[in-house]
Amino acid sequence: MHGKSGKTEIATMPGQYRHTIKELLKETREAVQLGIPAVILFGIPKTKDETGSEAFHPQGIVQTAIAAIKDQTPELLVITDVCIDEYTSHGHCGVVKDGKILNDETLAVLEKMALSHVAAGADMLAPSDMMDGRVGAIRKGLDVNGFTDTPILSYAVKYASCFYAPFREAADSRPQFGDRKSYQMDRANRREAMREVALDIEEGADIVMVKPALPYLDVIAKIKQRFDIPIAAYQVSGEYAMIKAAAKMGWVDEQQAMMESLIAIRRAGADMILTYFAKEVARQQS
Ligand code: PBG
Repeated sequence: MHGKSGKTEIATMPGQYRHTIKELLKETREAVQLGIPAVILFGIPKTKDETGSEAFHPQGIVQTAIAAIKDQTPELLVITDVCIDEYTSHGHCGVVKDGKILNDETLAVLEKMALSHVAAGADMLAPSDMMDGRVGAIRKGLDVNGFTDTPILSYAVKYASCFYAPFREAADSRPQFGDRKSYQMDRANRREAMREVALDIEEGADIVMVKPALPYLDVIAKIKQRFDIPIAAYQVSGEYAMIKAAAKMGWVDEQQAMMESLIAIRRAGADMILTYFAKEVARQQS
């Protein structure tokens, strides 16, 4: 977040913070010391507008953060979330017109946002918007602008899930009308997940991600069977918050619940896991 110094705890995600750049640099230095290979950045803009224009501002919060991290710890892989929901006044992941989310009009904005991130020094881009064709659009944008070596980690399989609720508090990105069901996936549908993965690979994705993780282990396993591509899984805010809350009540053992969940995700076939427990796990391992 913007600001000279300090951090604020996220009420729905105990132990997680909105960081100013100064605090972020302490966090990333610690990550490197703990052996964490990569971080992903989400931004809180100064102001939100209809088109989410701060998302691609060269001096936006994420662009500034990328440069600061790469300057301090060049060895830490910096991934960025490419999606405009934190930047739009309506809170949707796409351009909105007459109450409708416009798929194709959104692609140009995502491409601009992606380019602003790599220009600032991002190592890998992670589009999370779920517009059709965005991996191809971003890949093309990168290639014509000389960023041929920058990989794309696609949120290929992203379900319309209630487990994102704590994050939306954290990022202040609740949709102001309707829901995300016109672009995120139907929880009952596994075959669509296979089509999403196939399309994203065809469009140039280097890694495909499944999200949320624990409620969709069957989907991870199925992708592992069908495709030869690295699979990432995102243990989302709600998965984290549930463990934290139950542990606080004394109903489950936090460390055990954390490890059992992460091992299950790994067992299902995830090659890498994006988790809010990263520091805690790394501490257990060291
Ligand atoms: C979209 C985005 C979301 C999350 C990651 N990227 C929110 C959403 O789709 O509503 C959720 C992550 C989490 O719940 O931990 N920018």
